Amino acid sequence: MPAQNSTQTYGSVARSFHWLTALLILTQIPLGFIAVRLPYDTAAELAFTVKVFSAHKSIGIALVFVALARILWALSQKKPAGLHPERKLETFAAEAVHWLLYGSILLVPVTGWIRHASAAGFAPLWWPFGDTLPFVPEDEAFSQVFANLHLLFVVTLVLALGAHIAGALKHHVIDRDAILRRMLSGRTKLPALIAQPHMRAPLLAALAVWAVVLIGGAQMGYPLAKTTESDSASETALTERAPGGWSVTEGQLGISVAQLGSDVEGTFNTWTAAINFDETISSGRAGDVTVDISIASLTLGSISSEAAKPDYFDTAVFPTATFTADILREGEAYVANGKLTLKGTELPLILPFTLEIDGDSATMSGSTTLDRRAFAIGDSTSDPKTLGFEVPLSITLTATRN
Ligand code: HEM
Ligand code: HEM
Repeated sequence: MPAQNSTQTYGSVARSFHWLTALLILTQIPLGFIAVRLPYDTAAELAFTVKVFSAHKSIGIALVFVALARILWALSQKKPAGLHPERKLETFAAEAVHWLLYGSILLVPVTGWIRHASAAGFAPLWWPFGDTLPFVPEDEAFSQVFANLHLLFVVTLVLALGAHIAGALKHHVIDRDAILRRMLSGRTKLPALIAQPHMRAPLLAALAVWAVVLIGGAQMGYPLAKTTESDSASETALTERAPGGWSVTEGQLGISVAQLGSDVEGTFNTWTAAINFDETISSGRAGDVTVDISIASLTLGSISSEAAKPDYFDTAVFPTATFTADILREGEAYVANGKLTLKGTELPLILPFTLEIDGDSATMSGSTTLDRRAFAIGDSTSDPKTLGFEVPLSITLTATRN
């Protein structure tokens, strides 16, 4: 059984590569499709979903290397001639689909890989490499673009594969020719064939199909460029004007969640702060603050929607959290000493912070740590390795005197 291709048929190496890729792809499509639809409301469900996703990603990365080897091998090989060179349209369509399939075995897993590497902490790879990639930033908007690309390339792959399999079956069942048999086994009887040159038109047709799918996908709501920052910027740190107080002009309120060993950074995009502060008081109670936080505005890596679920923040029932505190000062040491109401539970919270006042502008920065269990967040996830108990919270803001 020759390893190399001939004008007549595929060699054993090309056939092994073909069926190995087919096996991996036909496993990956249902695995990815199922993974994105699995529930993750309880710890057991989350653990299972993470496993399925890790399997999907890890098998997909194996495919990148198989695909590279297959393509390198194909470049060194003769292309077996078509069995029906007189059927021009059919030959053209078959070759265009082959280009789509060859392209897909790289484009699909590579976009999935970049989507994974740029998203924060969800379902690690089973490989000792690849959770981050050079030149790939950890950025949710960027990651979403690659999620869209991954999906659109998957759609193209599925369409091309449908045509490919239908074509192979048509040759086998209707034409009763040797097309499928020569891909299955090296021992098929074949008519004498004459080598045919590569045509450029099928490649151009394949490129046109990708272009149509990407443009169509973008118009159907799968944008391929980062959405502008202005949407979230307009939501950031809403200001509530307190008489005699200070108005927040900009700020950031963030948390960090340890999920499966990686830190997922989160930001509340909408919150208001009413601040009264008398800087002439250098000891004791120097003012008060009320912060209202829209829990629904939390973006938390790739798990924002999961965080909103009943077991976590239960955003539908508890849409806001409130922190009311006295501002206590001892020289240059400041704390906000008050109560945080989160998910229906009110607990004392002390937030030490630094403050710098320059004329009518003040900059503060503070941080503390919450224990999620105290607020019944993620109760079904009792293993801190899956979801850490301690949640660091940080706030920075700039305010101007009213
Ligand atoms: C059950 C699934 C599949 C069947 C029945 C099938 C069948 C075939 C057959 C019969 C050929 C030979 C065509 C010829 O001799 O002109 C072929 C070639 C080819 N197949 Fe498949 N195939 C399947 C899955 C796949 C998958 C999943 C991919 C890649 C994503 C793929 C990519 C290709 C490519 C690129 C060629 C061109 C030959 C080459 O250069 O390697 N096939 N396939
Ligand atoms: C040939 C290989 C692959 C195939 C055929 C494939 C296929 C799929 C499919 C069908 C989906 C579901 C799309 C949907 O219904 O929304 C999906 C989703 C996903 N895949 Fe893949 N995939 C492959 C490789 C990879 C790799 C290598 C990674 C990462 C290392 C990956 C990461 C993902 C992720 C993160 C999602 C969820 C997308 C999202 O967050 O919106 N995939 N994939």
